[in-house]
Amino acid sequence: MSLQTRKSSNTVWHNATVTRERRERLNNHRSAILWFTGLSGSGKSTLAHAVEEHLHQLGCRTFVFDGDNVRHGLCSDLGFSDKDRQENIRRIGEMSKLFIESGVIALTAFISPFRKDRQQVRSLVAPEDFIEIYCRAPLHVCEKRDVKGLYRRARAGEIKDFTGITSPYEEPENAELVVDTGSEPLEACIEQVLGFLEERGVVPGRARRRKVE
Ligand code: ADX
Repeated sequence: MSLQTRKSSNTVWHNATVTRERRERLNNHRSAILWFTGLSGSGKSTLAHAVEEHLHQLGCRTFVFDGDNVRHGLCSDLGFSDKDRQENIRRIGEMSKLFIESGVIALTAFISPFRKDRQQVRSLVAPEDFIEIYCRAPLHVCEKRDVKGLYRRARAGEIKDFTGITSPYEEPENAELVVDTGSEPLEACIEQVLGFLEERGVVPGRARRRKVE
């Protein structure tokens, strides 16, 4: 464990008979974590949900974890200090790992600004299970979009530790995929992600898949 010492020591791991492999066979696709990272307003959630929509229509089992949503429940006790962000990402990492075991493709949309926290999640699973997708959009573009009005408030000093303004964002150095969400149309970004998943053998080629609603 990284953040806190493990307090639940008298526990015994129980092995399921319904394994990840059996679930994946049933699903006809592999499970994986698609880890979208980028500034607030870079389009992580939009892209993750759009990719999920396509995957769902192709018959894949999916689930999106979204920063804003998760912070309403599971992580509602956490703020935006470096330490709280670290714990936020740790929880989502562990959750995503469980989702991999369940055979699902987990798509996560968190700023996850620190390299070492993303690296820590990566180290929880097999190399082929973690696909880091950098939603690259320059700060000035995100700030101009300012969909939630948070950049304006951060500039006015009303929100502290705001990523890109008063808190750092460490760009990925070895992301599996860099998607220019600041300049490319959404459809092109979706295609880039889906193409990569096919190439990686996470999902079979679209031509061979059954379509569902
Ligand atoms: S993370 O840094 O811990 O990965 P997370 O993705 O969960 O962040 O949450 C980011 C979202 O919280 C932003 O999209 C924005 O809507 C909101 N938010 C509120 N305060 C801040 C802040 N200080 N810095 C960044 N995002 C913030």
